Amino acid sequence: MSGHGTPIPMIAHRSSGLAGTADVPGDKSISHRSLILGAMAVGETVVTGLLEGQDVLDTAKAMQAFGAEVTRDQDGTWHIHGVGVGGFAEPDQVIDCGNSGTGVRLIMGAMATSPITATFTGDASLNKRPMARVTDPLALFGTQSVGRSGGRLPMTIVGAVEPLPVRYTVPVPSAQVKSAVLLAGLNAPGQTIVIEQEATRDHTERMLEGFGATITTEVTDEGRVITLEGQPELRPQSIDVPRDPSSAAFPVCAALITEGSDILVPNIGLNPTRAGLFTTLREMGADLTYENEREEGGEPVADLRARFSPNLKGIEVPPERAASMIDEYPVLSAVAAYAEGQTVMRGVKELRVKESDRIEAMATGLRTNGIEVEDGEDWWIVHGKGYGNVAGGATCASHLDHRIAMSFLVLGLASNAPVRVDDGGPIATSFPIFEGLMADLGADIRREG
Ligand code: S3P
Repeated sequence: MSGHGTPIPMIAHRSSGLAGTADVPGDKSISHRSLILGAMAVGETVVTGLLEGQDVLDTAKAMQAFGAEVTRDQDGTWHIHGVGVGGFAEPDQVIDCGNSGTGVRLIMGAMATSPITATFTGDASLNKRPMARVTDPLALFGTQSVGRSGGRLPMTIVGAVEPLPVRYTVPVPSAQVKSAVLLAGLNAPGQTIVIEQEATRDHTERMLEGFGATITTEVTDEGRVITLEGQPELRPQSIDVPRDPSSAAFPVCAALITEGSDILVPNIGLNPTRAGLFTTLREMGADLTYENEREEGGEPVADLRARFSPNLKGIEVPPERAASMIDEYPVLSAVAAYAEGQTVMRGVKELRVKESDRIEAMATGLRTNGIEVEDGEDWWIVHGKGYGNVAGGATCASHLDHRIAMSFLVLGLASNAPVRVDDGGPIATSFPIFEGLMADLGADIRREG
């Protein structure tokens, strides 16, 4: 499991002329949901393009522990024989979700309305993260939970024997919380209603509909009102997982700041609930274009073309865009170091409860590399140095956080002195081919020691 192994120190040296095609892996959010919904359908779901990062592999193992049969062909096709809504068996071991907040929160929701008990744990990062945001709404169904102080893992969830349907307004912008409640609602009779004030990624809603559930979304004065009819029979699906825009962000940002670069990142899902970073980069003056724009499986998709952009300008990122780029602020802050002027990021409190406190982790590492950063509880400002003026030279802590590690390695591709990270091991949770892919583009990123 990630984060439990020997640290892998890595270093990024100034590079030039990134070129070629970057085939990034499958979408992490959709991969988790493919396995969980596949396990809750009756019959065999077939998945191609699944992200085989540790986070998703941990979810696959968990689905086996709950009684689904999950197998992988040599060519990377996955088969999930689902047990049906309400059909989960009680696991006989603790469920270890590794580094994955999405994995643990969605699985807690999926099992919360079955008459079984399961205990969840994770690595040192996951065991610090708040779970009450999920167990509070699950309690409304009749689910019980006992965890460590502050609602932390390890935690035992006792599923509701006679679940009640729920109407719940999500208090923080979180697709994980929304999804946990919807997945729990699957095995409750009647309508479960989830209201979100800010739109977050809508993969659960789209996929539930694909699996045959009756689910509607209405935009009202209250927000987005999502209504799910309980106790459907989910039909197995054939899913081709689109590539992950959150992984595409790293080669795209690397190309924008690396002299002479021109790369193509094909087949990237541009669902508006996920594509905020690319809009932001374009507003900053990035030479980033969408080629071959099309629709695939009901989702907008394009090939991203990113070229070296020496004249980036800092901007104020609209706070209402935060949910659509929440995982991309770390790498945006690395790009912002190379822009002229301030990049202002507000309404981003959620960054403090990700795999690490991402504002703290990035602000500290950027400062040690010569960049001025101001920060408060739900905002931060990066004072850009402009191309050619980022000092670098420091070692940054990755705090068991894949996106922090990759963001600092991107930073080092154009800094005057190389940038190190203390542990690149967590990168395998979401982007196991990162090193090879970046090397193929011509980026000088290496392991040390
Ligand atoms: C995710 C939701 C987001 C995101 C995470 C994936 C999902 O988390 O940061 O990487 O797949 O639902 P929150 O729900 O905590 O915002």
